[in-house]
Amino acid sequence: MDPFDFTGRHVFVAGGTSGINLGIAEAFAARGARTTVISRSPERVAAAVTTLQAHGAKALGFSADVRDPTAVNTALSGAHQQFGEIDILISGAAGNFPAPALGMSLNGFKAVIEIDLIGTFNVLRGAHAFLRKPGASIINISAPQSVHATPLQVHVCAAKAGLDMLTRVLCLEWGADGIRVNSIIPGGISDTEGMARLAPTPEAKETFRSVVPLGRFGTKQDVANLALFLASPLASYISGAVIPVDGGRTANGDPGLGRVLAAARQ
Ligand code: NAP
Ligand code: COA
Repeated sequence: MDPFDFTGRHVFVAGGTSGINLGIAEAFAARGARTTVISRSPERVAAAVTTLQAHGAKALGFSADVRDPTAVNTALSGAHQQFGEIDILISGAAGNFPAPALGMSLNGFKAVIEIDLIGTFNVLRGAHAFLRKPGASIINISAPQSVHATPLQVHVCAAKAGLDMLTRVLCLEWGADGIRVNSIIPGGISDTEGMARLAPTPEAKETFRSVVPLGRFGTKQDVANLALFLASPLASYISGAVIPVDGGRTANGDPGLGRVLAAARQ
C-alpha cells in the first residue's frame, strides 16, 4: 500500500488559502484527499478551493477568523457534515510584522498572540469532536522564532513557543484517543509572505541565507513533504515532536560566534 495515498482522507487546513499552508493543502489534494481550507478573506478562500479542485480533489472552503471560536466551530462542523471525520488537521494561520517591543502597541502584540497561539487553541479544541479517533494526525505550523530569541519578533517568539508547548501538552492529553500532535518548524521559505515581510531586500535575503547550513532557502514542497510524512502511517509512532525543515538553520544557534571562530582560524 502506498503510504502517501490519502484517497478518501479528510484534511482540514486552518490558514490554508495562501503560501506554505496552501502548498500543504495542495500536496494532500494531489494525493486524493478531500480538503477543507479556512481563512478570513472570502476571495482567497474561493481562489484556494479552485486551486485545490484543479488537482482533481473534492475541496471546501469557509471564511473564518481563527480568533473567533464560533466561526471556527461553524466551519469545522460544516466540513464534518460534508466530508466526514477529519483525519489530518493543520493549524497554520499566522501574522507577523517586524517591530521592537517598545515600538508595537499592546494591540499589535495581542494580534499575533491571538492569531498564532489562541487561534490554534480554538482550531484544535473545536476540532476534537470531529477528529477521527483513533488515527487523527494534527500538525501545527511553528517557526524558528519558537526556538531562537529574535529581536523585533517578541510577539512571534512568544506565540510560536506557546504553540509548540500546546503541541506537547495536547500530545499528552489526546494520546489516549489515538490522536497524534506534532509541530513543523519551517525555515525561511522562498516566495512567501513571511519571507517578504522579514527579508524584503536582496541584501536581507543574502544575510538570512548565509546562516542556513545547507546554503539555500526552503520551498513550499519541502514543508509539504514533512507534513505528508507526519500524516502518513510511516509516522504512526511520532507524537509530541517539534521538527524543523530548515536546512539546519535552527541547529545554527549562535551564527555570530560561529563566524568569529571560523574567522580566527583563517
Ligand atoms: P501567508 O501566505 O501570509 O499565509 C497565512 C495564511 O493564514 C493565509 O491563508 C491567511 O489568509 C491566513 N490567516 C491569517 N490570519 C488569519 C486569521 N486571523 N484567521 C484565519 N486565517 C488567517 O504566510 P506564510 O509565509 O506562507 O506562512 C504560513 C505559516 O508558516 C505561518 O504559520 C508562519 O508562521 C509559518 N512560517 C513561515 C515561514 C516563511 O518563511 N514564510 C517561516 C517559518 C514559519 P487570510 O488573509 O485570508 O486570513
Ligand atoms: N508595526 C507595528 N505595529 C503594527 C504593524 C507594524 N508593522 N502592523 C500592524 N501593527 C499593529 C497595528 O497598528 C494594530 O495596533 P493598533 O490597533 O494599536 O494600531 C495591531 O497591530 C493590529 O493591526 P490590524 O491591522 O488591526 O490587525 P489585523 O487583525 O487586521 O491583522 C496582522 C493582523 C497585523 C498580523 C496583519 O499583518 C495580518 O493580517 N497578517 C497576516 C499575514 C501575515 O502576516 N503573513 C506572514 C505569516 S509569517
